[in-house]
Amino acid sequence: MPLSLYRVTDFLARARELDAADMLAPFRERFVIPDEHLVYLDGNSLGRLPRSTRERLHLAIEEWGGDLIRGWDRWITLSREVGDVLAGGVLEAEPGEVVLSDSTSVNLYKLAVAACAARPDRHVIVTDDDNFPSDRYIFQGLAEERGLDLRVVKTDIDLGISVEAVREALDEDVALVSLSHVAYRSGAVADMAAVTAAAHEVGALVLWDLSHSAGAVRVPLRSAGVDLAVGCTYKHLNAGPGAPAFLYVRADLQPELRQPIWGWFGQRDQFDMGAEYDPVASIDRFQVGTPPVLGAYAALEGARITAEAGIGAIAEKGRRSGRTRSR
Ligand SMILES: Cc1ncc(COP(=O)(O)O)c(C=O)c1O
Repeated sequence: MPLSLYRVTDFLARARELDAADMLAPFRERFVIPDEHLVYLDGNSLGRLPRSTRERLHLAIEEWGGDLIRGWDRWITLSREVGDVLAGGVLEAEPGEVVLSDSTSVNLYKLAVAACAARPDRHVIVTDDDNFPSDRYIFQGLAEERGLDLRVVKTDIDLGISVEAVREALDEDVALVSLSHVAYRSGAVADMAAVTAAAHEVGALVLWDLSHSAGAVRVPLRSAGVDLAVGCTYKHLNAGPGAPAFLYVRADLQPELRQPIWGWFGQRDQFDMGAEYDPVASIDRFQVGTPPVLGAYAALEGARITAEAGIGAIAEKGRRSGRTRSR
C-alpha cells in the first residue's frame, strides 16, 4: 500500500472531534467517497470527485448528444466563465484576468515566452532548484532556444524560497522571475508580495506557478501586483484527471504581451477566419485552440465549490492542520 494511504486507527476520535467543530465539514457530503475508511492525503496530486461534477458531466454528454454543434453557443465561453469564477472566488484577481487553457506546462511556456519577448534587452530567467520539474525543464529549453541564461536560486526544501535569495539573483539583466507559490514537496508558501515587489524593483516580470496553491491557500494576485500566473485544476480544485489548466495575465499587460502559439482561439473576430493573425486585446489572446469542454465543465464545478466554501476558510483549515508553512 502506498505510504500516503492508511487506515484510520488512533486518530479517529481526534478527527471526529475536529470534524464536529469544522465549519467546512458539511462539504464532505458534496464529494463521492465510496470507501469511508480510506484517509486520502493525495488531493495535492488528484482531488476527489464532487457529486455535482458527476451530474454536470452527465448533462454535458446529453448536451453533446442533443445539441450537437449548436452546443458551441454555450461551450465557446466556458473557458472565460471558469476563469471569472477562479478570479473572483479563488485567486483574488479581476474578471477577465483568468482563462482556462491547455495544460500548466504549456501555459507556463506561453507566458514565459511572452514575458521574455516583452523585455528584449534582458537575457536572464530566474527560478529555483526546488521548482517543479516541468517548470525547470521548460526554462532550460527556453534558455537554449532563445540564447538566455537561467539563474537557479538555491532553496531550502523545508523552508521554501527566501526573498533574500531571490533578491541576490536579481539585476537589470533579469527579464523574468518564475517560482512556485506553494512548494510541491514541502507545502512551503512563498512570500508572493515581497518576491514580486523585489522583481519589479529591477524591472523584471514575475510568473507564479499556482498549481499547489489554487484552492488551498490565499493567492493575493491583485494586492501583490502579480504580472502572470499559471496553475492546474486537477489538484485542490477537484476538476479531475487531465482537466485543463488556467492562466492569469494582469489586465494592463494583456494588450502588450504576445504569446508564441498563434491559434485561432486567440484571434480577434475568430469566426471571420481572417488571413493574418491579429490577436484580440483581452485575456483570450492567450488561448490557442478548441477547449476541452468536458474538462472545462468539471473545472467550473470544482471552482464553484471552492468559491462557495471560501478560500479564507479553506486556507485557515490548512494552516491549523500545520501542513502549510510560510517563511
Ligand atoms: C507545480 C506544478 N507545476 C506544473 C505541473 C505540470 O502540470 P501539467 O502536467 O498539467 O502540465 C505540475 C504537475 O503536477 C505541478 O505540480
